[in-house]
Amino acid sequence: MTTQSNHAIWLTMKSGALEIRPAPYTPPRGGEIVIRNKAVAINPADWMTISVGSVFFPWLKYPFILGSDVAGEVVEVGAGVTRFKAGDRVLGHALGSEKSRNNPAEGAFQTYTVISERMASPIPDSMAYERAAALPLGLSTAASALFQKDQLALQLPTSNARPTGKTVLIWGGSTSVGSNAIQLAAAAGYEVITTTSPKNFASAKALGAALVFDYQSPTTHADIVAAFCSRSIAGAFSIGVGSARCCLDIITECRGEKSLVMATPSVSFTGAPSGFRRAMWLTRIMTRMIVSTVSLLIRARLRGIRAKFVWGSSLAENELGQIIYENFLPRALASESYVAAPDPLLAGHGLAAIPTALQIQEHGVSAKKVVVTL
Ligand SMILES: NC(=O)c1ccc[n+]([C@@H]2O[C@H](COP(=O)([O-])OP(=O)(O)OC[C@H]3O[C@@H](n4cnc5c(N)ncnc54)[C@H](OP(=O)(O)O)[C@@H]3O)[C@@H](O)[C@H]2O)c1
Repeated sequence: MTTQSNHAIWLTMKSGALEIRPAPYTPPRGGEIVIRNKAVAINPADWMTISVGSVFFPWLKYPFILGSDVAGEVVEVGAGVTRFKAGDRVLGHALGSEKSRNNPAEGAFQTYTVISERMASPIPDSMAYERAAALPLGLSTAASALFQKDQLALQLPTSNARPTGKTVLIWGGSTSVGSNAIQLAAAAGYEVITTTSPKNFASAKALGAALVFDYQSPTTHADIVAAFCSRSIAGAFSIGVGSARCCLDIITECRGEKSLVMATPSVSFTGAPSGFRRAMWLTRIMTRMIVSTVSLLIRARLRGIRAKFVWGSSLAENELGQIIYENFLPRALASESYVAAPDPLLAGHGLAAIPTALQIQEHGVSAKKVVVTL
């Protein structure tokens, strides 16, 4: 049993302040490991939990420790853990904010995080922690969307997948989720058509996309439909505000699987005002979200298209978590057939850099993962 001194950046109350304070060091239970974090990454869910946590994570008990992405060194393993030992270099998807956990000891933004063994992977010696930290939530969300039986249910990724002859549409290929989705779909034997800004065409192709289109071009819809003329669609994964509607319209005109998985709500939650204006802002934005989502789901149903949202941590509750983090990722990283993308954007060192890192991510990044080293 290790006794370590732990510190965390705590979200003190719902929509409250962030404060650096000591946190208990929590030893691992059976099937868990404790990681001494060397780098953590920021996701939209982190700043959204601060501004609108009451909507997406109503169950959280405060004070709480946010964060999903960690990379670091294993310091302790729980009963029954055989894949890891103290000193191993790993990445892990921290599940603290999940309804089934609701546990600050499993949040990323602290020195020591408890991680489920099945949501961790060893990383090669050559991979920097700040690169590895870019992967977990993006990877988990992409994998859940593409492979879960209740989502696109694609064939699983392997080290030598045979081409399926089918094409997946991934809208938002330069996002963190999209960068993983491109690589996973390609590793599962699918051709990938994706969208990014023109400056990110080359990086999307380097990750495995066959064709890349500018999502802001007035001809995007026609161009992608034309590309699908000679192809069979295996489904679409929409990432980015407004992307679900675009994908729905494209699927309608394509031959193949009439299936859409959505990562992003139909409205943007950036720039929440503080104080009493927040409640009014939230009511307005929630009304717009509900109306546009219901209208999209009705439209999908009328066109015979299955449309569903993905929950990025859902693979932790089924066999897919183990398939990705234990069977697929370690070998794919070791052989460099899978890379940690997007590239890290270092926002600083230490827990004190996390508020700035959250602001950078909320203001918007282009093909970058905001990372803080610890
Ligand atoms: N459902 C879940 O469980 C879950 C989990 C994780 C993330 N998400 C959601 O998934 C989305 C992506 O998250 P992330 O962390 O991967 O994002 P991110 O890396 O912060 O996304 C930044 C990228 O978004 C791209 N982008 C912005 N608007 C776009 C649009 N309309 N169409 C296509 N690309 C667009 C930009 O592309 P360019 O720079 O090329 O223009 C930029 O590279 C967010 O909405 C997030 O909330 C959902």
